[in-house]
Amino acid sequence: MLKGKTVVLGITGSIAAYKMAGVAHTLKKMGADVHVIMTKNALNFINPITFETLTSNKCLVDTFDRNFEFNVEHVSLAKKADIFMVAPASANVIGKIASGICDDMLTTTLFAFKGIKIIAPAMNTNMYDNPILQDNLKKLKGYGYEIIEPASGLLACDDIGRGKLPDEEILVNRILYHIAFPHDLEGKNILITAGPTQEAIDPVRFITNHSTGKMGYAIANNAYLRGANVYLVSGPVNVKAIDGINIIPVKSAEDMFKAVEANYKNMDYIIMSAAVADYTPESVAAQKIKKSDDDMKIALSRTKDILGFVGANKTTQKLVGFSMETENMLENSQKKLLKKNADMICANSLSSKGTGFGVDTNQITFITKDKIEVSDLISKSELAKIILDKVKEL
Ligand code: CTP
Repeated sequence: MLKGKTVVLGITGSIAAYKMAGVAHTLKKMGADVHVIMTKNALNFINPITFETLTSNKCLVDTFDRNFEFNVEHVSLAKKADIFMVAPASANVIGKIASGICDDMLTTTLFAFKGIKIIAPAMNTNMYDNPILQDNLKKLKGYGYEIIEPASGLLACDDIGRGKLPDEEILVNRILYHIAFPHDLEGKNILITAGPTQEAIDPVRFITNHSTGKMGYAIANNAYLRGANVYLVSGPVNVKAIDGINIIPVKSAEDMFKAVEANYKNMDYIIMSAAVADYTPESVAAQKIKKSDDDMKIALSRTKDILGFVGANKTTQKLVGFSMETENMLENSQKKLLKKNADMICANSLSSKGTGFGVDTNQITFITKDKIEVSDLISKSELAKIILDKVKEL
């Protein structure tokens, strides 16, 4: 995802510095050229060799180290970098940056850097609440720096409050947001349904399906990284969405219907990947006592057809539905496209290996009125990008 991109991580003297080993490692695995600059105080908390081993680049500390190649190191790195993140950023370094003081490798390189600058403060709560620090952060925001709010919780100093460096994933996602993809969906509103739904049979049990939400979440994450405003109507799942995605949690098909009904009008694109459990509590009860054909009919009575509802009521929105078929995939999906008034159906066959519920890969047949295209069997995150490329063309 970050092939050909250069990321500079500036690390200052805070116990949270250890978390940056994970960040550097993840970014490197994503293909980035990662350079780490540490302040002298940071050396008290983590060894530069850790970063050198993880990034395969020399970790820079002192501006006047004679072992560097003969070029003006801080300027050349500043020119090459796509993004510069200072994390954890101490009150001291924030103060220096806000005042234009350049007295070490980190502050000098950052001062010479013209690209995207992110600061993630981490410190004791009282230091964080100090109005001088808050003024400095305001000043930096005014200069176009992005500030990542610290998390709250138990701090290393045993105080409880704001000041924790956020989880590695949050830091990595901010970098991905800025440089992983062009923001070709900026300003677009996208509604996505994902995961399973649950229908309560009685106060203890419910009926559901095997959906894990992985495909829908992959689409939501990709849309977010491409600048879209993402609304994710999600059944109960164990997958995580990127911070910044608006999650609307639901349980039953009725909840999902209401959430979609309340939000679909203002959307540019609506993508329904949820596997709605097509039973009502009544139909489940009827199934248990199925005595006659009439009872069977009741047993098959469905929950509200959410895709069909949006298809019948949409105006300018483009509508995409998923279809899970065990047989006659193409024929059934083509029928679904027309019946539901969708603009595209993403069909996956439940009978092929590596596709469908739970797995990390998928293969999709894209069906529009005049085209049928089959994707390769690839990861759900790669597929999410292709799906959104196609959605853009509708
Ligand atoms: N879907 C929906 N509401 C339902 C059931 C399904 O919106 N009550 C959506 C799913 O999110 C998916 C699409 O409809 O995008 C197709 O789902 P699938 O279960 O394959 O089809 P059904 O709509 O149940 O198809 P059929 O009418 O053939 O039963």
